[in-house]
Amino acid sequence: MDDMEQLTERQQRELEYHREHAKQHMALLEKPVNFSIVLSEDRRWWNASWEMYTYLRNKDIKGKNVLVVGCGFGDDALFLAKCGANVKAFDLSPESLLIAGKRAEKEDLDIEFKEMPAEKLEYENDFFDFVIARDILHHVDIPKSMNEILRISKPGAIFCFNEVYSHSITHRIRYSNFVDKWLYPKLVNFVYAGNKPYITEDERKLTEQDINVIAASMAKPEMEKYFNFFIGRLLPDKWLFLVKLDRLLLYLLSPIAKFLGARVLIAGTLKKFK
Ligand SMILES: C[S@@+](CC[C@H](N)C(=O)[O-])C[C@H]1O[C@@H](n2cnc3c(N)ncnc32)[C@H](O)[C@@H]1O
Repeated sequence: MDDMEQLTERQQRELEYHREHAKQHMALLEKPVNFSIVLSEDRRWWNASWEMYTYLRNKDIKGKNVLVVGCGFGDDALFLAKCGANVKAFDLSPESLLIAGKRAEKEDLDIEFKEMPAEKLEYENDFFDFVIARDILHHVDIPKSMNEILRISKPGAIFCFNEVYSHSITHRIRYSNFVDKWLYPKLVNFVYAGNKPYITEDERKLTEQDINVIAASMAKPEMEKYFNFFIGRLLPDKWLFLVKLDRLLLYLLSPIAKFLGARVLIAGTLKKFK
């Protein structure tokens, strides 16, 4: 808790936002957890989260020490524990951790949840075999968090991240006068189906420069995939055939997918030697 008392202003703002966010999602406690992402033999190759678990299931994580960074309501922690991993997870928001903990209890899964910032971890050196980060790196100080992730990982540990992303060229187009002032306001209701986009004051989509910073801590990735070319930007994700077409296009355009995608999924070994 000492570290929680010395949060940076950015961490404080994130904490406040996510405390409120969690209070609005208490109803999650009533819903059963759907474990098909880790239990089903059918795989959804067009979905970044499903692709992440297709990769992890092939890694035999049973009995391994796995860390979930910024776990929110605990989905990934629950899924990984269901696969038999020894899971620890943390977040800044005690309300989110409360929800995550209760869901784990209900599912009879033994997971250690703790409150701490990604930039300063309480875990011991060289402990984790796998570190999983989903939709969290774009909320944190990446160089500081990566230093901590390297410290607490064993040599040869796998790091897997699945994040919102935009190449800096695409980012410039998004914030051009035409898109920002004319196109985006016209599309936002349609794409988000009338819901308010979930965006904190400090979050920033990962850019290729952020990927380079993260990649500096990793050996050549075993997996690098991009998702959401036009889905989530121009169209909502409600038409499955268009979602599949979107991913297929990015697959066919792999050499330039990093300029087009709005979500990145990368996994590989951390550069830490014995
Ligand atoms: C977009 S949510 C993602 C949660 C979860 N990973 C998921 O995919 O469902 C971002 C989470 O990051 C947490 N967070 C933000 N800044 C953080 C930081 N510096 N350290 C740890 N957690 C942080 C928030 O409390 C929130 O739960």
